[in-house]
Amino acid sequence: AYAVYAQMREVAPVYRRVHRQDGRATCFFTRYEDAVAVLRDHRRFVKDVRNCLTPEERAQLPPEPELIRLLSHHMLNLDPPDHTRLRALVNKAFTARMVEQLSDRIQQLADRLLDRVQARGTMDLIQDFAFPLPISVIAELLGIPARDRNRFRAWSSALVSPSADSQRNAQKLARSRQSMEDFIHYLGQILEERRHQPQDDLITSLVQAEEAGDVLSQEELYSMILLLTVVGHETTVNLIGNGMLALLSHPSQLALLQEAPTLLPGAVEEMLRYDCPVERAPMRYAAEDLEMHGVRVRRGDAISVVLGSANRDPAIFPQPDRFDITRSPNRHLAFGLGIHYCLGAALARLEGRIAVETLLRRLPNLRLAAPVESLRWRTNPIMRGLQRLPVRWDT
Ligand code: HEM
Repeated sequence: AYAVYAQMREVAPVYRRVHRQDGRATCFFTRYEDAVAVLRDHRRFVKDVRNCLTPEERAQLPPEPELIRLLSHHMLNLDPPDHTRLRALVNKAFTARMVEQLSDRIQQLADRLLDRVQARGTMDLIQDFAFPLPISVIAELLGIPARDRNRFRAWSSALVSPSADSQRNAQKLARSRQSMEDFIHYLGQILEERRHQPQDDLITSLVQAEEAGDVLSQEELYSMILLLTVVGHETTVNLIGNGMLALLSHPSQLALLQEAPTLLPGAVEEMLRYDCPVERAPMRYAAEDLEMHGVRVRRGDAISVVLGSANRDPAIFPQPDRFDITRSPNRHLAFGLGIHYCLGAALARLEGRIAVETLLRRLPNLRLAAPVESLRWRTNPIMRGLQRLPVRWDT
């Protein structure tokens, strides 16, 4: 993909693709400067497609199916003022200071996962470590009981993994419909429990906000919990997986980090840049006609900001295809920018640091247990993450 992005940055920095079936267009932005401009301009590039439409066009929209309504009204899909209101409700829980307090607990969870596999000398770093760690963290923050974590994980995966192949897509859609129904049913029970027995967790504080009046509607409450669940672990797993692959396949960088552990925060930033976990930012829509690099972008066009390409733009990053944990400055866009800048950035960074530090400290001579060429990426156009990452160490 990176070679294709390099070509696009060069010859078609705004690439407008018209879909054959319905005539709709998507514009891909691959240069760093353009990505910044789009992400910062939340008035011309909106999240809610309805904000691109005239009142007459809006009136013609089909009504939203119930399931979609319940799960899609979250901050990442909305524009101000709704976006501002929803983000403010949970912002406090994710500030750097609050997140720092989770450090010991995250360390404990990471250690517990390694306790299970340490004597084995081998594991799939994705399934055995990178996946369960962030989901335990977000489930604890939200207040999902430990007994339900596996079910929770299965739903979340089902809800975010579209397939490129349309035959399989239909099956997946049916499955994800089922998952949505199960998820909503399950949440209904948890919310009911919290109404009667408040706890010190995020779900309780959201339930209280909903009860307090019109700050949060029912669909916003459900959507918020779904959003935090999905983004809270579908992303960090890729930071840990992609980051460890980069490190283990660049032995000189690994040696450097082991000699100088203070390089860890910079190494995590470089992992985020080099194989960006969210390869393309979730869609925006053009609120008006405009022209960029000679391409006419029409009102209503879908806008895809390719973060994975912006992070390899040679205009900003010298030798962008080199993995260099001492890179400075490193103003990557892995967490986006502007009003939708990742709410969980501080948490993700902390989890990333603890994960990498713990793996290197506890697993002596950690190395890849499969050739890099044999590793497979998941087929998801938005996320960049490995299916498996077999590793080995000395016991
Ligand atoms: C938004 C990346 C982890 C919560 C975003 C966006 C990106 C991103 C690129 C902006 C999307 C856009 O502009 O369209 C990442 C990466 C992560 C990560 C790379 C891990 C390495 C997390 C975690 C949480 C989280 C752990 C917390 C639970 C959110 C939320 C938003 C968001 C709530 C929406 C913010 C808004 O619309 O105002 N993330 N994220 N993320 N992220 Fe993350």
